[in-house]
Amino acid sequence: MRIETDAVVVGAGGAALWAALELAREGVPTAVLTKLYPTRSHTGAAQGGVCAALGNLEEDHWEWHMFDTVKGGDYLSDQDAAEVLAREAIERVVELEHMGLPFNRTPDGRIDQRRFGGHTRDFGEGPVKRSCFAADRTGHMILQTLYQQCIKAGVRFYDEYHVVDLVFEGGDAGDGGRAAGVVAYRIADGELHTFRAKAVLIATGGYGRAWRITSNAYTLAGDGMAMAYRRGVPLEDMEFYQFHPTGIYGIGILLSEAARGEGGYLTNRDGERFMERYAPRLMELAPRDMVSRAIYLEVRDGRGIGGRDYVHLDVSHLGRKVIEEKLPDITDFARIYLGVEPLKEPVPIQPTAHYAMGGIPTDLATRVIRDPEGTVVPGLFAAGEAACVSVHGANRLGTNSLVDLLVFGRRAGIGMAAYARGAAMPEVAPDADEPVRAEIEGLRGRRSGERPQAIRAELGLLMDANVGVFRDEALLSEAVRRIAELRDRYAAVAVQDAGTTFNTDLLETRELGYLLDCAEATAASALARKESRGAHSREDYPERDDAGWLAHTMAYRREGEQPELRYRPVTITRFGPKPRTY
Ligand code: FUM
Repeated sequence: MRIETDAVVVGAGGAALWAALELAREGVPTAVLTKLYPTRSHTGAAQGGVCAALGNLEEDHWEWHMFDTVKGGDYLSDQDAAEVLAREAIERVVELEHMGLPFNRTPDGRIDQRRFGGHTRDFGEGPVKRSCFAADRTGHMILQTLYQQCIKAGVRFYDEYHVVDLVFEGGDAGDGGRAAGVVAYRIADGELHTFRAKAVLIATGGYGRAWRITSNAYTLAGDGMAMAYRRGVPLEDMEFYQFHPTGIYGIGILLSEAARGEGGYLTNRDGERFMERYAPRLMELAPRDMVSRAIYLEVRDGRGIGGRDYVHLDVSHLGRKVIEEKLPDITDFARIYLGVEPLKEPVPIQPTAHYAMGGIPTDLATRVIRDPEGTVVPGLFAAGEAACVSVHGANRLGTNSLVDLLVFGRRAGIGMAAYARGAAMPEVAPDADEPVRAEIEGLRGRRSGERPQAIRAELGLLMDANVGVFRDEALLSEAVRRIAELRDRYAAVAVQDAGTTFNTDLLETRELGYLLDCAEATAASALARKESRGAHSREDYPERDDAGWLAHTMAYRREGEQPELRYRPVTITRFGPKPRTY
């Protein structure tokens, strides 16, 4: 079936929904395609808050927020993007409030704010209350609020339409082609639908499921990143992957940094607040890369709880009122998954794969770029975690992801509307779905071969062990080699379900292909970068090297070979690189 519309939005998380809302406000016919139901999107899992320098409880300024973002990103953030983020955060949060988002309130009725890692006053002096929150379910509330606004504005949703390919006119993105639509697989009956459109937004989130211990839902397989990568778009800064310090031990489910923002402690086997030795000023509210490294070092030195590979998050001193009003969900998670009562006892935690700082490169208007010179792929846009604008640099600050998707999701909608108004409808060949149709028909019901679950499990273990918080040449070389082997095995993978109705066996197999693409770009980019910066911590190159490596990586897919890596300069406007201490 073929459907024609001006704009297609792939994904239905916060960036996608705000873009769709803006397109609807501009009167642009738009289709939102999601492999889930919109309110199941992963934005809903974001917990602790969305930051904006409102200054409701303490003095604050967007310039301080911008500085923290740049310093937190270990000076790899493009500073024009960090400025946009910090300035526009304020308007977006106020707009959300006006849409009806139920933020927690101060006694005088303003949006309540709390502390979060790396957010400071006066250019690094001490912690500041900048995170606006709705208990510990802020992302959930943002998702519900934006979805309601989209429904009110008449946005057209295609739920459980799994986008499986991007369509271009005049060659692939890498060959100078222009976006022309997408091919989607309707999960209910296995039908392929081609959507012809002038503007396409990729807002499909991250790829945390490449690791075994992760805070990401099962569906976070890097679909949009990998589809773009296969069509000639490079992936930027993939070596910078964030490990959130406080995942539930053994399973990785997120326990919000808000627990530490409200005054929670991290302790080792001796009951010591060990962050004092790593970040004496900010302690538990140091940026995530530093806290995750500290936890690893404690464990490595035998100071994990009972000598094991975890430490404790302790909120028991905060009292019932704070916990019930501000941390209800995560304390329930501790009860449900670990049988631990956080009101009385500390919770076992370990770092968990959480967020991609890298992704599809874009300019400030969210237009996808395809080379270090900034050449735009006409009609193709990306926003949210799937994109790299690059605002988070080498390490994102907590709560900056929700701001990113609000600010750049809105910018995407505005940019797409302007583009669609001025562009002719692209030509799409009648057989545009043929490559993916052939692939799917080849896979469906291919009973001989290895099951994908074994490959997925091996990939997760490999990424945990070799492309984790600490890396070195030997670990990364092994990762590169073994990911290539997993790719070879994937080429002959078996899909037992031959049916067309809700064939999740088929779709999960295809998702594994996306994960392998993202893992390949991550490991190759990490092996090449011979320095330590932000979340990329090389034990064989422990120092940051601005002379050699103050640059963004762009990884290009090369069939049957390792990715080709190119580099582009970082935009520095206000803050020259300095040593990063907290
Ligand atoms: O810890 C958290 O609540 C997560 C927030 C984030 O990743 O921004």
